[in-house]
Amino acid sequence: MERELIVRAAKDILHSKKTIAFTGAGISVESGIPDFRGAQGLWQKYDPEEYATIHAFYSNPEKVWMMLKDMFALVMEAKPNPAHIGLAELERMGYLSSIITQNVDGLHQTAGSKNVIEFHGSHRTLSCLKCSTKIDGLSLTLEDLPPRCSRCSSLLKPDVVFFGEPIPWEAQVMSFKESKSCSAVLVIGTSAVVYPAASIPITAKGRGAIVIEVNKEPTPLTDQISDYLICGSAGEIIPAIVEEVKRGISPHPRPLPSGERARVRGKRQEYCNLSFKMI
Ligand code: APR
Repeated sequence: MERELIVRAAKDILHSKKTIAFTGAGISVESGIPDFRGAQGLWQKYDPEEYATIHAFYSNPEKVWMMLKDMFALVMEAKPNPAHIGLAELERMGYLSSIITQNVDGLHQTAGSKNVIEFHGSHRTLSCLKCSTKIDGLSLTLEDLPPRCSRCSSLLKPDVVFFGEPIPWEAQVMSFKESKSCSAVLVIGTSAVVYPAASIPITAKGRGAIVIEVNKEPTPLTDQISDYLICGSAGEIIPAIVEEVKRGISPHPRPLPSGERARVRGKRQEYCNLSFKMI
């Protein structure tokens, strides 16, 4: 672990007026959930063209639900790891304004993070495609696949974003607002190849933010967008950065202005409808 870069990251966070985090599947690997494109990734086992597009879901829901059942079983078992816990602590200390996550596992919230924007939705709820009834994902056994609506027996779809589906507009509005107004962004455990999500650190950079990348390997962001890459496991690097931030904190920690959180949530504005593309 590059000590020098840990100290640099802590300094950048301490001096930043507003820091956000942008996370991907890599942050949850140490919680037992494989990422998508790694050697043990989910897409090695399931072809995303056959299992992860909205077209695939409509044309063969039973098959897609087999993959979802497999994935959700891992998510249900998983616990937050030191990287999730470290980000929650940074937020409590007033040094992290929000987390924009591509993950649907809910581990940031389980770790105690309050201001989490789920860019690709969540596994926690499902919606009936006919009567729009919302179902709590934890209430389903997933014995009979595909699961059906208790009201009208129509197909249930998890509230996660499939390729080819639009990103929830509220998540888009809040994510781009945060990325345009931050002065530092921690980019953790993402291959940064899926758009429009991957444009979030690029947007932040375009507004002059410091981009601190944490990943086991370089990504398309590393040479052009990131100010520096701290190479290694998120579960080791994030707690080390938090410890260094604590070392650097003045006796009077800076509280997070509550108005900031309320203002972000209160704003409702139709922004634009970007379809979720696979490149
Ligand atoms: N610590 C840090 N980084 C890690 C770790 C770890 N322990 N383990 C893996 N990584 C890195 C990998 O090197 C890779 O760059 O995390 C990244 C995971 O990339 P992907 O599997 O492509 O996941 P992600 O970027 O989140 O995918 C984006 O694609 O499939 C869709 O909807 C899905 O939200 C997902 C989106």
